[in-house]
This record gives sequence, structure tokens and C-alpha cells, in this order.
Amino acid sequence: MERLPGFRDFYPEPLPDGEAWSANVRKHIFDVWHEIAESYAFQPYDGPPLEPLSLFTAKSGQEIVGQLYNFEDKGERAVSLRPEMTPTVARMVAARERHYKKPIKWYSIPQLFRYERQQKGRLREHFQFNADIFGESDPAADAELIAMLIDLLRAFSLTAEDFVIRLSSRNAWQDFFNQNGGDESKAYDFYQAIDKLERTAPEESEKKFQALGFTLEQVRNFIAAGEPTDELQAVLDNLTARGMSEFVKIDYNVIRGLAYYTGVVYEAFDRHGKFRAIAGGGRYDQLVSLVSGGKKNIPAAGFAMGDVVLLELLKDRKLLPRIEGNIEIYALLEDESKRPATLSMIQMLREGGWNVEYPLAPIKPDKQFRRALELGAEFTVRIEDDESAVLKNLNTKMEKKMPIEELAEHLLETICKNNLE
Ligand code: HAM
Repeated sequence: MERLPGFRDFYPEPLPDGEAWSANVRKHIFDVWHEIAESYAFQPYDGPPLEPLSLFTAKSGQEIVGQLYNFEDKGERAVSLRPEMTPTVARMVAARERHYKKPIKWYSIPQLFRYERQQKGRLREHFQFNADIFGESDPAADAELIAMLIDLLRAFSLTAEDFVIRLSSRNAWQDFFNQNGGDESKAYDFYQAIDKLERTAPEESEKKFQALGFTLEQVRNFIAAGEPTDELQAVLDNLTARGMSEFVKIDYNVIRGLAYYTGVVYEAFDRHGKFRAIAGGGRYDQLVSLVSGGKKNIPAAGFAMGDVVLLELLKDRKLLPRIEGNIEIYALLEDESKRPATLSMIQMLREGGWNVEYPLAPIKPDKQFRRALELGAEFTVRIEDDESAVLKNLNTKMEKKMPIEELAEHLLETICKNNLE
């Protein structure tokens, strides 16, 4: 049986081939995401992978709606797998915001599903780090999010030579649209044309803009001028104070495809423009009101980073982490009559916090030893008699016999001193 196209199996290391996805690398990425989010004082949250279809149809915009994995469930409800997390978190905040002090700073690592045309950097399922701030309309919140995005990428050893955050503003585009006589009911079409500008042939863009009462040249001139609005200047100043100015640039080519954005928007790209966006986000001050039927009105801003493009970039820059085995001790079992005593010792070591492996079924001693080396274990241990065990440090090759109950303590000392006396 084959898996569905655009979906992934994650295998443990060592990987069977160059095509396989590593569950260990994924864990590493998630660990870094958790660590940085916590250092910025974000709290974890999660929501259901399946939602009412209407949560997405009204809020995300046509592009995502065309990619929904939606169906009717057995209770005849119109449902959809989540293509993004933002409508869910907006719904969750609208429902319980009174319980939480503002600003609310939450993060999550959902798996998302989009029925996209498969291409480089785009699958039908991906994991996404999401971070959002609710209840703060000052650009300080946007800057805090962008700073975290920069630190997330730096945590994978990427530098200002590897990536850049292209910073823009829906307000700036809104002003441009209004001042040049745009028809408000066509504003979203205009944003869509800007969003696709870099990926569309100029003649086609020209046609789209003319239909909306603009020219391509007018649009290009506005992008080229790249004058920061006051809110963007505030974000730039905030990031400069953190020593992060080299990671951002004003770039009005960015406007974001999703319908709900209202203010500052941004996308993270690799410097050489080889890959799709690594991350994207912005301010969306109306979404909580929209999902709560106008009952709650809370400003919001956030971004998301996917695992697929991030991994492509890390691979390209040879920055994939070296995956080390996590087995610390291999318990040797050379004499089957000692299995009960060995199991008891293993239990004691595991309860003491050690990662222990051992042969489930009888195998030859030399094979056991080879297995210990393959797993990258630092020690072997074997029961000698009723009271004692022999511990061997596989790095120094030194052995020591000791009472079984002193094993855990001795191991700790050894690790601290880094040798076996
Ligand atoms: P988005 O730009 O649709 O934003 O997705 C964010 C990131 O997720 C993209 O930059 C990309 O790295 C990754 N991504 C998206 N679709 C795929 C796919 N089919 N395959 C692989 N990776 C993908 C959002 O989803 C917004 N909800 C972000 C946000 C959070 N805005 C405010 N808060």
C-alpha cells in the first residue's frame, strides 16, 4: 500500500535512503521551536485538526478555500481538516479571552492539510510553528513577533546571509489603493494581484491592474520607493534596538495571500530567492470579531513557519543537525539465567533517568556488543553475580565491578568526571 501523494512517512535515523523524512530531525526542529517560543514567554495551546468548514470558508480567503480537505461527516456536518491555525486560535481566544491577562502570547505546532498542487516546498500536509499575540495593537507586538521569527531561524544557525524578513503593510497598500481611486469592493482582488506579482508574467499583471483602474508602472513605482509607514518605522526602530536591523528590509512586493490581514505583514525568504517563503504573518485585527459574530473585538498579530521549506534550506546550507543516538547504556545478557536480575537492574537504571537498551531475545555476546556500539551507547553493563555488576566505559574501555545498587550513583559521578576510575 502506498501513502497518499503529498503526505510523508517519518522514519527514525539512520534513514533508509536520501528521500526519507527523518523523525529525529523533526523532533529536533520541534524542540528548537518550543525552546525559542518559551524564551519569548509564549504559552502552548492546541485545537482540533477537524473544524466546521465555515470556520475557513468565511475567513481565510479564496486561495485556501480552494485547497481545503473538506467532506461531510457521518452526522451530516460540513467539516474540513485545518489548512491553517489562525481561525482556530481566533475562535479559541474569542471564547475564553476573559480568563487570560492581555496581551495573550500563544504558540502551537499543528499539522495542517492543504490540497495543493505538489511542488518544491509545498506538500499536502505540513507542520507549522504558529505564534500569535492578542490584545495589543501597538507595533511593539509586531516587532516582538518578528524578533522571535529571526531568533527561530538563528537558532538553526542561519545568519543574515541566509535569510531576510521582507516587511510590508496592508495599510500602506490600502492608502495607495484609496488615494489612486481604487474601488473598495475590489480591494481584495488588488491585494491578490500584488501577492502574485513576482510569479506572474508582466503582461498578465498589467491586464489585472488595468481592470482595477491601475497601471503596472504605478504599482512598480510605489514598490520601488519603499517608503516605510509610521508603523513600519516603529517596527524597524524596535528591531534596531535589539541589534536585528540587518535581518529585515521594507519590501512592498509582500502583501500576503490570506484575506484577514489588516496592517503590518511580512515573509521570511532565503537571501538567494531559491526557495518558497519560509514563514509569513502579520496583523489581523478584525478576525476575532469575525469569528465571534461581532461579540469580541481584539487586535491580533502572528506568523507561522512551516517545516518543509525550513528543512530544504537547512539541507542546502548543510546545517542539518547531526543526529546522535540517545541510548546511554546497553545491558549485556550473556547468561539467560541472569535475565530476571538483569531486568531488575535495567528497571532501576531507567527509573534513575538513564536510557537503557538490552537484547529482548537471546543473541550471541559479540553481536550484543556490536549492537551497543551501533546504538552509540556510552556504557555496557552486565550482572556479575547476585550483588555485583560490571560497568564498562566504551570510550575509555575501562571496566569496574561494583554493587548493583551503587550503579546509578557511580554512572552519574562518571558522567560528571567524564572518566571511569
Ligand atoms: P501561510 O503563509 O499560508 O500563513 O503559511 C506559513 C508558512 O507555512 C509558509 O511560509 C510555508 O513555509 C508553510 N506552508 C504553507 N503551506 C504549505 C504547504 N502546502 N506545504 C509546506 N509548507 C507550507 C499562514 O498559514 C498563516 N495562518 C500564518 C499566520 C499565523 N498568520 C497569523 N498567524
